[in-house]
Amino acid sequence: MQLIDGKSLAKTIKAEIAIEVKQLIASGGKTPHLAAILVGDNPASAVYVRNKVRSCDQVGFHSTLVRKEASITQEELLEVVKELNENPDIDGYIVQLPLPKHIDEEAINLAIAPEKDVDGFHPMNIGRMALGLETYLPATPFGMVQMLDRYNIETSGKHCVVIGRSNIVGTPMSLLMSRKMKTGNCTVTLTHSRTKDLAAEVRRADIIVAAIGMPNFVTADMVKEGAVILDVGINRVEDTSRKRGYRLVGDVDFENVAPKSSFITPVPGGVGPMTVTSLLMNTLKACRKEVYK
Ligand code: GUN
Repeated sequence: MQLIDGKSLAKTIKAEIAIEVKQLIASGGKTPHLAAILVGDNPASAVYVRNKVRSCDQVGFHSTLVRKEASITQEELLEVVKELNENPDIDGYIVQLPLPKHIDEEAINLAIAPEKDVDGFHPMNIGRMALGLETYLPATPFGMVQMLDRYNIETSGKHCVVIGRSNIVGTPMSLLMSRKMKTGNCTVTLTHSRTKDLAAEVRRADIIVAAIGMPNFVTADMVKEGAVILDVGINRVEDTSRKRGYRLVGDVDFENVAPKSSFITPVPGGVGPMTVTSLLMNTLKACRKEVYK
């Protein structure tokens, strides 16, 4: 069993991005600039956004955090989106999700200029991904593809089972893994809450992507010997031995599954740290106008 160390890989990739930024600026290019809109005071969202801004500093990007009260109206938020669309210094931006219930996330997503949509959530970019065109890949699937690539994990001809069909993880990951490219060429099964005998489907997998949001959902009896395990889950479970009263676990029963696997991502320190790296790579692409020329 080999651990896929997302924390360390993210550090390596950030160092590579920092070098590219220096070269870009030395050759007369502009400094990449990422903006983030954070609405309300969801503590998890605040942590994620702070982490994204800190990562920008680490690689030499400019960043702008736009904070708005949870009471902001949809029209007011659309106005903020419009301003970022029109600001030539901002290369890309994200609207941190979830948004307050009175705001229609889809309406906001549709208003983001596709060329600045570094989250890769706009239908134009998802469509481009489905067609295999140059695009901004969504952060979590992109991070996992990077992991498979950098650890030289063979995917061609393998059977990949994705658990969970969310718009931002399961569905795009199932598309990417089936694409005709180095990290792709898998036969993909996308499983979800209506899948009959999910355990039997997962047992057939050479590569398992667990993105269901349930602690320890994938147990050892569901895993074939030698499978590759990518665990997207970040679940809080009560732990009174910790000062904060909880610990983070993935969707995979790591302790019992790890010995059966060939490669496995830990939680924390696996897929999570790679998502920010993806966002930085997309922002660099936006700055260089590599997708929309
Ligand atoms: N909330 C959880 N994950 C994400 C993400 O990747 N992007 C944004 N904008 N919000 C999120």
